[in-house]
Amino acid sequence: MSRNHSIAILAGDGIGPEVMKQAVKVLDVACARFGFTVEREHCLVGGAAIDAVGCPLPQDTVQVCEKADAILFGSVGGPKWENLPPDEQPERGALLPIRKHFGLFANLRPGVCLPALKHASPVKNELIPNGFDVLCVRELTGGIYFGQPKGRHEENGDIVAIDTMVYKKSEIERICRIAFTAAMARDKRLVSVDKANVLQNSILWRETCIEVSKDFPEVELSHLYVDNAAMQLIKQPASFDVLVTGNLFGDILSDEMAMISGSLGMLPSASLGEQNDNGLYFGMYEPSGGSAPDIAGQGIANPIAQILSLSMLLRYSLGENEAADAIEAAVNAAIDSGLRTGDLYTGADGETKVSTDEMGDAIVTALQV
Ligand code: NAI
Ligand code: MG
Repeated sequence: MSRNHSIAILAGDGIGPEVMKQAVKVLDVACARFGFTVEREHCLVGGAAIDAVGCPLPQDTVQVCEKADAILFGSVGGPKWENLPPDEQPERGALLPIRKHFGLFANLRPGVCLPALKHASPVKNELIPNGFDVLCVRELTGGIYFGQPKGRHEENGDIVAIDTMVYKKSEIERICRIAFTAAMARDKRLVSVDKANVLQNSILWRETCIEVSKDFPEVELSHLYVDNAAMQLIKQPASFDVLVTGNLFGDILSDEMAMISGSLGMLPSASLGEQNDNGLYFGMYEPSGGSAPDIAGQGIANPIAQILSLSMLLRYSLGENEAADAIEAAVNAAIDSGLRTGDLYTGADGETKVSTDEMGDAIVTALQV
C-alpha cells in the first residue's frame, strides 16, 4: 500500500487556524519519524470563504477534497456571519453539504478523560479511577433527521408536525460494521443502543446488529435501551468500550459523553464514508467543539482536539496506525507532565499553564523521542 498520502486542510474560522497550525507541526514530525509523506492542500471554508469568495463551501474546495485521501477540518462560524440566511451560514452551508457530498454516514466521537484530568469530569471520580475512554459510533445520514414525510399541516383546526424515522437494513448494517471493526481495535466490547421495546426501527436495528456480530465473534455484543444507556453512562461510565446507535440517540449520547470527559478542547471526531478495498475510509476529521469566538486570536485555545483528529485521520483514512498511536501517546505525555491550556488549568500543584503554541511544541517534542 502506498505511503504517499494527500489530505485537504480546511482550517476555517475562530480558533480553527490556530489549532490547525499545531496539528500540521505534529504531522510533519509524524511523517519524518514513521517514514511516510502527506501532501497537503489548504482550502477556504466557512466564514473565511464567505469573506474571500462569497460562499461557505467554494467549488474549488470541494474539488480538492475529492482528490484527497481525507479532510482535516478545523471549525467554522462566528458572530460576524450569524445574520446570514441559514443555508448560507458557515456551519449549515459547509459542514452539512460536505457530509452529504461525500456520504459520510458514520460519526465516531471518542469520549476520553485522561486519568490526570479526571477532576475536570462532573461524574464522581471514584467511578472513573482510570479515567474514561468510550467511543460513540453514531449513524449520521439517516434516521429521523432525514426521513420523509417531514413538515407541518393543519388538521381539524389544530397544527400537526411530522418527522419520520426511517432506516434501511443496509444503512444499519454498514454502521454496525464500522462499530464492530472499531471494537476489534479496542477492548472488543460493543453496546448497541436502541429503543426496541417501542420502535420498529429499533427492532430492525437490533436484528441487523446481531447478524453483523456473526462476522465478529470476538466482540462481546450487548444491547441497551437508550433511556437506560443514558443512566448507565453516568452510573458506571467505566463499563463501556464502544457504543453504536442511530442518528438521534447518538446526537444526545455523544454530548453526554463529552460532558463526562470534562473538556471539549480534548475531543476529536471522525465522519467516515464507505470502506475501500484497503480497509480504509474517506473521512472528515474535526474537533468536537466549535470555533470558540470567545477565545479566538488570543493564542490560548487547546490544540489537542485538533491533534487527536489528525491521529484519527492517520488511523482510519491513511492506515498509519503506528503514527496515530504515537501521537496519542505524545498527547498523554504532555498532559502527564502537567502542561495545561487555560480550559484545563485548575491551579493544582504540578500544573503549568501554557499557550496553544507551547502545548503544540510539547506534543511535537514528545513525538520526536
Ligand atoms: P464552541 O465549541 O465554539 O465553544 C463552547 C465553549 O468551549 C467556549 O467557551 C469555548 O471557548 C470552549 N472551547 C471550545 N473549543 C475549545 C478549545 N479547543 N480550547 C479551549 N476552549 C474551547 O461552541 P459555541 O460557542 O456554541 O459556538 C461558537 C461558534 O462555533 C458558532 O458560530 C457555532 O456555529 C460554531 N460551531 C462550529 C462547529 C463546527 O465547525 N463543527 C461545531 C459547533 C459550533
Ligand atoms: Mg449535538
